[in-house]
Amino acid sequence: MSAVPRAAPTPLAERPAWRALLEHYQKIRTLHLRDLFAADAGRGERLSVEAVGLYLDYSKNRVTDETMALLVRLANECGLAERITAMFSGAKINVTEERAVLHVALRMPADARLVVDGADVVPEVQAVLARMAAFCDEVRSGAWRGHTGRVIRNVINVGIGGSDLGPVMAYEALRHYSRRDMIFRFVSNVDGTDFAEATRDLDPEETLFIVCSKTFTTLETLTNAHSAREWALRKLGDARAIRRHFVAVSTNADEVAKFGIDPQNMFGFWDWVGGRYSMDSAVGLSTMLAIGPENFRAMLAGFHAMDEHFRSTSFERNLPALMGLLAVWYNDFFGAQTAAVFPYEQYLKRFPAYLQQLTMESNGKHVTLEGAPVGVNTGPIYWGEPGTNGQHSFYQLIHQGTRLIPCDFIGFCQSLNPLGQHHDLLLANLFAQTEALAFGKTAAEVAAAGTSARLVPHRTFEGNRPTNTLIAERLTPHTLGLLVALYEHSVFTQGVIWNIDSFDQWGVELGKVLANRIVPELTSAADPKPVHDSSTNALIRRYRRLRRGSP
Ligand code: F6P
Repeated sequence: MSAVPRAAPTPLAERPAWRALLEHYQKIRTLHLRDLFAADAGRGERLSVEAVGLYLDYSKNRVTDETMALLVRLANECGLAERITAMFSGAKINVTEERAVLHVALRMPADARLVVDGADVVPEVQAVLARMAAFCDEVRSGAWRGHTGRVIRNVINVGIGGSDLGPVMAYEALRHYSRRDMIFRFVSNVDGTDFAEATRDLDPEETLFIVCSKTFTTLETLTNAHSAREWALRKLGDARAIRRHFVAVSTNADEVAKFGIDPQNMFGFWDWVGGRYSMDSAVGLSTMLAIGPENFRAMLAGFHAMDEHFRSTSFERNLPALMGLLAVWYNDFFGAQTAAVFPYEQYLKRFPAYLQQLTMESNGKHVTLEGAPVGVNTGPIYWGEPGTNGQHSFYQLIHQGTRLIPCDFIGFCQSLNPLGQHHDLLLANLFAQTEALAFGKTAAEVAAAGTSARLVPHRTFEGNRPTNTLIAERLTPHTLGLLVALYEHSVFTQGVIWNIDSFDQWGVELGKVLANRIVPELTSAADPKPVHDSSTNALIRRYRRLRRGSP
């Protein structure tokens, strides 16, 4: 299917719903959550949605029924329903790269059908999944041996960006379900320390490298992959060892072959899978090795359940649409510059880092699909840490600072590691934080508690800090799939409102080009001509002078 033909749409700021929201914002911006809750005893239950095993409480947001109706109207005016249909049907909605955007096909059931450019992609997806499963079974059972006959005990994923963050996050998130007798590590940074520390205590005879790169041309990954080959061959000696110790995940078979990895050992995917949307493709090979094919399929089923919910539910009850619209509300009307996500679940410690690429590489754009300035602010800065650690670090600023930071809190009712009272304490803290952020503590309340007049302003909490709370029963592969798809589609919703291409990433190119130009200037024997600005020239000179010394 070809690119969606588009006439230049009405600029966002001129849309009737946008204007109505601007007017509405003036009316409600001083409304306090205290008053909204006091006026409506059922608000907490009413402004919540339960679907596909996730419960979203969005009542602690600075919204009224009118706000939500206007946001839904905005979604309709921006054609969210049509854009969802376009994505799910394989239209080339990534217009700057002329690509379909079909991560949803990666988790469709085997009997589904989705024809793109004349071919049904579902059987191809299923075939790769089957190959991955067969390979994982071999490695996990010990049938796949290293070159010297030893069982594989260590798996190192070499990749960066989407070829790293998804696999690391998923491995950490699902560690509870993983093979505890195997070691999984992830090397991404071109800083040699990353590789050195990941391999220093491992035996090459028992180590399998997954070189994971959509393009197979990424500087960091290729540099690390070459170092990995040297490291392995130093012990294994024989170049034939590569085929037992290296597999590739890529869309670029030619480059994989050039590197020397047997095409039999390559797991493919397709240009319609964006790097940051790829953790459920073959990029998830390390995840599957860790948790096994059955758990991996359960994760895919979670993704798919959220896809179906997003595709078929009215926006008023649609989890990703609601979260996306609320994100736009704070970003563009309240002027929030950042958004935070706090998983009260240690296993989700890398979830904020994963979300940073998903959200910011997708929606950090300044022009519309037609190339005109967007005219409003786009992607907020995402950040976060697992609870309760953040409470003893930066929550102070969220509670009493001068900036508005909308936060998502994520919690699970059951712990995977029940231990005394720990889990009740953890969840009590989650609930307490959202309560404190919403309702605060007035000066009168502080004074009534006997605080000296001098300290009353310091101890007052304004409140009215918006939060979403997401609750699920337990962290499972299925729940992880639900959560990731939820954020993927929330990002999509925001991108549709801003009318930007959420699936390209041109902004990463310039730095790569300049770095390639600078490399020879750092390493050449003769002093390079000072071709840069005075700051860059001076930095290069200093580095050349000092680089020789080593510890
Ligand atoms: O530099 C950004 C980027 O292109 C990401 O979008 C991508 O996930 C990452 O680099 C890695 O790319 P590849 O998988 O092709 O090595």
